[in-house]
Amino acid sequence: MDKRYSLPSSMEFYQDNTNLKWIILAVSIVISIGSIYYTNILVNQLKDREKDQVKLFARALEYTINESNNDILFVSEEIITKNNSIPTINTDSRDSILYYNNVDVVLSWSEKRKAKFLRDEVEDMKKTYPPIEINLKDESGNVYDKQYVYYKNSFLLTQLTIYPYAQLFVLAIFGFISYLAFNYSRTAEQNRIWVGLAKETAHQLGTPLSSLMAWVEVLRDDPDLQRKGIVDELDKDIRKLQVVTERFSSIGSTPTLKSENIYQLVNRVVGYLQPRISPKINMEVYALSETIHAMVHPPLFEWVLENLCKNAVDAMGSSGIIAIKILRGNENKVFIDISDSGKGISKQQLANVFKPGFTTKKRGWGLGLTLAKRIIELYHEGKIFVKSSEENLGTTFRIELKGVNS
Ligand SMILES: Nc1ncnc2c1ncn2[C@@H]1O[C@H](COP(=O)(O)OP(=O)(O)O)[C@@H](O)[C@H]1O
Ligand SMILES: [Mg+2]
Repeated sequence: MDKRYSLPSSMEFYQDNTNLKWIILAVSIVISIGSIYYTNILVNQLKDREKDQVKLFARALEYTINESNNDILFVSEEIITKNNSIPTINTDSRDSILYYNNVDVVLSWSEKRKAKFLRDEVEDMKKTYPPIEINLKDESGNVYDKQYVYYKNSFLLTQLTIYPYAQLFVLAIFGFISYLAFNYSRTAEQNRIWVGLAKETAHQLGTPLSSLMAWVEVLRDDPDLQRKGIVDELDKDIRKLQVVTERFSSIGSTPTLKSENIYQLVNRVVGYLQPRISPKINMEVYALSETIHAMVHPPLFEWVLENLCKNAVDAMGSSGIIAIKILRGNENKVFIDISDSGKGISKQQLANVFKPGFTTKKRGWGLGLTLAKRIIELYHEGKIFVKSSEENLGTTFRIELKGVNS
C-alpha cells in the first residue's frame, strides 16, 4: 500500500496555512473596531454625565449668588466644592475671568502668566462646548446681568478617549514583535530540520554504499559478469548513489564554492538527463561564450538544474523543447535561463511556486523549487525566479549567480 495516500495532500495543507493568516487578520480587525466602538459608547455616556454635572454646578453657583440669605445655602456650596474633576472657568458678561476650578494653574506663576494661561484655556473651552449661562437677578427677580461657565472634558474622560488607540498601538507593536520572534524561531527550526534530515540521510546511505563499492570490486574478478557488462552498469548506479549522498551531505553542511565553467557543467547535466526523458523532448544549450565561469558548488548546483529540468518535462507532457541559455549580465553576473514549451504557470500560482508544499501534481511533494531556492539563495547568494510564464506557451526560470572574470 502506498502510505502517501494516508497523508493530507500537500496542496490542502498549504492552503490551510494561508487561510489561517486571513482569519487572524479578520479577527484582529473585528476586535480593534469593537474595542474602539465600545469605548466610544462609554466616552459618550461619560460626556453626558459630565455635562449634567457642570449644569448642576452652574445652577448651584447661580443659587449661591442670587440667594445670599438662605438657610440651605450650604447645599449649593457643597455642590460647588464637590466638583474636583471637571475644569471650569467662570467669567462675567464682559468675559473677564472671575474664578476657576480644576485648571492647571501653578500658584507660583506670575499674575501675568496666570492671566495669559487662563485666557488661552477659555479660548480652548469655547471651542469644545458652548458655555452655560448664569442669570444674575435683583430682589424682584429681574435678570440684570449674566455670567458664563466654560468647561471642558475631565482628565479622566480625555484619557478614556485616547485609551483604545494607545492600547491597540501597544498591542500592534507587541503582535509585530511576536510575529518576528515566531518567524525567526520557525525559520531556525526549519533550518534544523533541513540540515538534520539531510545529514541523517547522507549518513545512512554512506555505510551500504561503501560496502556495495567493495562488492563491485569482487564482482569485477568474474570474467563472465564482466563480459556481459553487468559490472559497469552496477558501477554507474553506485556512482549515481554517491552523487545523491554527496548532495545530501553538502546541504547539511556549509559548502565551499569554487569557480566552475558553467557551459561545461550545464552540458554535463543535459548529457545525463537527455537519455532519461522522452525522446520527443529536446534539450538545447545556448551560450554566448563557452568560457563563462561562476562560483558554484557543483553537486548542489546540478541538483537545482535537474529539478528545474524535471519540472519542465512535467509541464510539457510527451514532447517539446527545453532551452537553456547561459548569459553574462552587468556587474559581473551570470544568468542561466531555463525555458520550456509547457503549460505555463497561472498568475495565481506564480506567487506560490517556491513555497514548501505547493504542488499541482498528483504525485508531487512541492519541495523541488523550495530546495532550489534554498540552494541558490542560501548557499550561492544568488537569485532564482520565474522570469516569464505564459499559460499554454511555456515558462522561463532564471538563475542569477556571481560570475568570475575569465
Ligand atoms: N516549468 C514549469 N512549468 C509549469 N509549472 C511549473 C514549472 N515548474 C514548477 N511549476 C509549478 O510549481 C509547482 C511546484 O514545483 P516543485 O516545487 O518542483 O514541486 P513538484 O514538482 O513536486 O510539484 C509544480 O507543481 C507546478 O505547478
Ligand atoms: Mg518538481
